[in-house]
Amino acid sequence: MTIYEALEKDHVAVKKLLADLVALNKDDDQRRHQILEQIKDDLIPHARAEEAVLYNSLRMLDKAKDIAMHGFREHMEAEALLRSLQAMDKLDTSWKETAWKLKEAIEHHIQDEEGRLFTIAKQLFTQDEAVAMAEAFETLKPKIKEEGFVQQTLDMVANLMPPRFSQKFKTFDITRR
Ligand SMILES: [Fe+2]
Ligand SMILES: [Fe+2]
Repeated sequence: MTIYEALEKDHVAVKKLLADLVALNKDDDQRRHQILEQIKDDLIPHARAEEAVLYNSLRMLDKAKDIAMHGFREHMEAEALLRSLQAMDKLDTSWKETAWKLKEAIEHHIQDEEGRLFTIAKQLFTQDEAVAMAEAFETLKPKIKEEGFVQQTLDMVANLMPPRFSQKFKTFDITRR
């Protein structure tokens, strides 16, 4: 499996969850809570591992730097929307609106990723590299899933730092645990 196939597989799953989310009845509290938890459990490890494995490889290369940083920004925006949805009360009338915003933001992001970003990555990485990246991605994801919110946030900060510093940051973090 290549990194592109591994990411696409997750994208299909999250799109299905988002469709379920916006189709919910307003008072279906339990299901809404479940779907949001599931999106969070899938989306955050996906995004962190994707940043660590693919975005960080891309942004080392001049040709792909901007597109990788654009992806980072969209991850932050989607995660902020997800957190605010989780904090919203069911009686909040803008809940559905925010759910649609999240769905649209993530679908747009996936389109960008599978389009522009994959096209550039496929020009820059060999088939063997794409397979190795998929293995790294699948290894990393469950580890991130086990971490709490604070560590996942630190991972995002580390992924955003220039790789030279982020390596240091990650080492520091491991020794701290
Ligand atoms: Fe993705
Ligand atoms: Fe992404």
